[in-house]
Amino acid sequence: MNSEETTLKLQNKVAIVTGGGSGLGRAMCIRLARDGARVVVADLNLAAARDTVAAIAAEQGEAVAMQADVARREDVERVARDTVARFGAIDVLVNNAGIVGEFVKTAEVSDESWDRVLNVNLKSIFFFCRQAIPQMLKQGGGVIINIASTAGLVATTAGIEYTAAKHAVVGITKEIAYEYGQQNIRAVAIAPGVIMTPMIENLPKEFLDASADFQKQLRAPSGRPGRPEEVASVVSFLASDDASFIHGNTLAVDGGFTLF
Ligand SMILES: NC(=O)c1ccc[n+]([C@@H]2O[C@H](COP(=O)([O-])OP(=O)(O)OC[C@H]3O[C@@H](n4cnc5c(N)ncnc54)[C@H](O)[C@@H]3O)[C@@H](O)[C@H]2O)c1
Repeated sequence: MNSEETTLKLQNKVAIVTGGGSGLGRAMCIRLARDGARVVVADLNLAAARDTVAAIAAEQGEAVAMQADVARREDVERVARDTVARFGAIDVLVNNAGIVGEFVKTAEVSDESWDRVLNVNLKSIFFFCRQAIPQMLKQGGGVIINIASTAGLVATTAGIEYTAAKHAVVGITKEIAYEYGQQNIRAVAIAPGVIMTPMIENLPKEFLDASADFQKQLRAPSGRPGRPEEVASVVSFLASDDASFIHGNTLAVDGGFTLF
């Protein structure tokens, strides 16, 4: 084996992961760091972000925690600025932070839930891309990975505000790929199925028992919900040059949930 073969696939890459303090984001941060990246763990919850950083440091990885509400333009600008000041680049941007809505039917959704879910799950991605793209162009390229959902591909019980945001995430990913692909920026999205994270675990048990989506997940080819690490490994692949010919797609990582 020569030394080239032992180089980690994301060696020296600088990655920002939003919502890196919990669930999928935490697993992504740990995996990207294991694969050689220096990771900015951006989260509303600073203590949670610091906890992820500690887990990475325990494995001799390099990461820094930054507090941010991704729905606030000033916070996004600060994270992008501080990342470049600290590490000199933004090679990988993972727009992962997200929240659920009210889990009610359209006629019952409040204005507040619509605005909050659209701001956190969608507008934040516009904010982050608008900050990161000029830096990526300056560097000669980069990778943007947007975390959508199966609710970005099909109807689910997640509600209209979540469905609207996640379908739009699929769309804006195509748009960014179209606009910047020839300048070596790859934009891709992932549509996770039901993955056991605090987001899902905090839903009432009665809801999960009654949820058509959850039951469908159990009947899907995988026969089970996913683990955060099963999404994190795909993020690491998409962030790497192994995925160099993948532009604008949304990859379902859902155990077969959207097959039928
Ligand atoms: N878990 C699933 O089954 C599932 C399925 C499909 C898609 N997703 C998507 O995956 C992403 C991560 O979900 P998860 O299950 O890990 O959730 P989670 O609730 O476990 O973690 C979300 C993290 O985002 C942070 N966050 C929330 N609002 C924020 C804000 N305004 N600014 C910055 N950080 C914020 C939280 O503090 C938390 O650390 C979300 O976009 C979610 O919609 C999850």
